[in-house]
Amino acid sequence: MENFHLLVRKLFVLFLTIFVLITTVFLGLFMYKPSPTTSIDSMADVELEEWQPKDVLSELESMPPEVKYGYLLIAESSKYMGPAATNPDMRFTGNGLACANCHLQAGTQAGSGSWVGVTDRFPQFRGRSNKIGSIEDRINGCMERSMNGKKLPDESEEMKAIVAYMEWLSTDIPEEKVKEYKGYVPIKIPEAAVDLEKGKVVYTRECALCHGENGQGVRHQDAEKGYQYPPLWGEDSYNDGAGMHRVITAAEFIKGNMPFGQAQWDNPKLSDEEAYNVAGYINSFERPHKENTENDYPDLKLKPVSTPYGPWADDFTAEQHKYGPFLPIIKYYKEQYGITKDK
Ligand code: HEC
Ligand code: HEC
Repeated sequence: MENFHLLVRKLFVLFLTIFVLITTVFLGLFMYKPSPTTSIDSMADVELEEWQPKDVLSELESMPPEVKYGYLLIAESSKYMGPAATNPDMRFTGNGLACANCHLQAGTQAGSGSWVGVTDRFPQFRGRSNKIGSIEDRINGCMERSMNGKKLPDESEEMKAIVAYMEWLSTDIPEEKVKEYKGYVPIKIPEAAVDLEKGKVVYTRECALCHGENGQGVRHQDAEKGYQYPPLWGEDSYNDGAGMHRVITAAEFIKGNMPFGQAQWDNPKLSDEEAYNVAGYINSFERPHKENTENDYPDLKLKPVSTPYGPWADDFTAEQHKYGPFLPIIKYYKEQYGITKDK
């Protein structure tokens, strides 16, 4: 009897041991995850994490000469194709800005309308002209409005160099990064109209230090190089036909990029409301006037709701198109025309 009990106990211990062993093996198999270095997929993820756009300044001496000329044109626009050019035939831009004052880090900064990947997006349909436009047409859009200047001929050395520079920037962008490097990050459009008083408070606290209380910025010591802190209004700024003159567009840029050095698209400083109010504030001052804007958007229904100049395909006031509230206008286009608008 005693032996029998001993046998049962031994068998029990044996079964228990086997059970524990089997469970351990199965659990191990079940929870096993390959380590990053052994999986091809996760190796690609690591490389993607580490991918960076070109470091333009460090490649300045090794890039092709045409690409380098393109870089100089967009980084020191006033000197190479603007008011500070020694040859009067070379004065195409009309204000003191450089392209790179808005397209930050020489067009490589995500969230600031970067040019990394941009040449792959053209030709492209544009509502402003109601036709398929080339990259040259798009560049000239900024030449005539953001830069308050005139068109560069498509065949000019300058236009070719700028396009070559953008193509060079775009060469090795991974498919997964295309979206991140495109356009601005949208804001949630506030219900209310812009509050200029609140915008002024934000401006004084967050912007005036660099751009000046009077919005006129600070020139480089070497004045022909343009501005260290660019002007935000007045005669040396973008004109009233520019994208930055639309409150929603300006708010997106500001939220994702300003105050400079403190905010980025994925780590903003201002709230949506603050960016929106200060965007309205800087756009409430005088600036150069763009002629013939009544011909923009031949199909008026495609005009962004915050385009501050008429005509429009609706009866909202000019004031409301400039300062909002924009949600009722957006709702109108949805109901009336089935068009979804976000700016
Ligand atoms: C620390 C200095 C600094 C502060 C503070 C700052 N900016 Fe800027 N801002 C810059 C610089 C520098 C540029 C141009 C960037 C470049 O060329 O790389 C710029 C560019 C801009 C531009 C586009 C170029 C233009 O002239 O239209 C806008 C718009 C702008 N800033 C708005 C603002 C607003 C609004 C604020 C406050 C919320 C602000 N900035 C705060 C330094 C600053
Ligand atoms: C005052 C600011 C400002 C300046 C200066 C400026 N741009 Fe722009 N640019 C914009 C805005 C705003 C957009 C539209 C961004 C958006 O809606 O996503 C834009 C868009 C573009 C695009 C299309 C980008 C895309 O992804 O489709 C190109 C190309 C471009 N600009 C080139 C230039 C060039 C070249 C210059 C100088 C000759 C220049 N820009 C100067 C504000 C500016």
